[in-house]
Amino acid sequence: MQHTRTILILAGLALAGGLLSGCRGDRSDKPPRQFFPDLDDSPKFKPQTKSEFFADGRSMRQPVAGTVAFGYSPLVSQSFEGGKPGKDANPEAMAMVSAKIAAERGRLLKDDSAPGSEGMFTGTDRKGEFLSMIPSALAVDAALLDRGMTKFNTYCAVCHGYDGKGGGAVGAAWSYPLPNFYDPKYEDRAQKTGKDGYLFSVVRNGVYGPDGANKMPGYGHAINERDAWAVVAYLRTLQASEKGKMSDVPDAQKAQLQTQMLQGASKPANATPEAKK
Ligand code: HEC
Repeated sequence: MQHTRTILILAGLALAGGLLSGCRGDRSDKPPRQFFPDLDDSPKFKPQTKSEFFADGRSMRQPVAGTVAFGYSPLVSQSFEGGKPGKDANPEAMAMVSAKIAAERGRLLKDDSAPGSEGMFTGTDRKGEFLSMIPSALAVDAALLDRGMTKFNTYCAVCHGYDGKGGGAVGAAWSYPLPNFYDPKYEDRAQKTGKDGYLFSVVRNGVYGPDGANKMPGYGHAINERDAWAVVAYLRTLQASEKGKMSDVPDAQKAQLQTQMLQGASKPANATPEAKK
């Protein structure tokens, strides 16, 4: 019957209204309804409070025995007993470990106060100017160039090409044109774009246009400071190799280089750093 139906509908609406009112976020003087009180009022310990549960009565627990804190070297601590070198301490090994820790500590704290380290983590000097050269505390040797080549071929070659001329597959489809690293402006240290510190900053932070458009992504998440300098050193190696003559190449590497040149420049540049110097 029409009348009963209307009453049922009204009753239904009233019920739904009752369920929906008093939900979270509504203002009410009454205590909130708790449908699952164990989720709201779960048992927990607050910091710095007493606990009947643990034998020592403390709610805050000590780290599990043997936990190694971040930045802690078990080697060094084992060699010391009460601040003095332990009976098994080997002074040479201790000195090596201490030097390693000092280096690691410097990196973690981004401390560039050691001689020749200025700008190691920023690419800029104390006045905020881009460094024209890689910090002298970093030895530019074959190992560093090798590291730089690996990082460049992994992260940069997709756009810039293995040879740095801008012919990478992703670069071809990229929304902004790719530069050529052999453009004199990337070699002239009197210009911003030719300074090692600027190239370092491009690796870590990318390139933004004056309108804020991100033209090149930064790789700071994937390439740490040391590796960023390694990439800069490798870029310099690429630039130098472009001007290199076969007579610059040590005899031992000549044959290898000639084979590579026959294979074409599209292949990764995997000549040994010595051959490229
Ligand atoms: C996704 C593509 C892409 C990748 C990957 C990429 N770049 Fe770039 N890069 C660009 C583009 C595009 C530009 C040109 C930006 C502009 O128009 O100023 C550029 C510019 C540069 C410049 C010149 C900056 C200037 O101010 O003229 C340098 C140096 C450079 N990239 C180095 C690198 C290095 C080193 C890597 C690897 C860590 C890398 N790029 C990875 C796209 C890329």
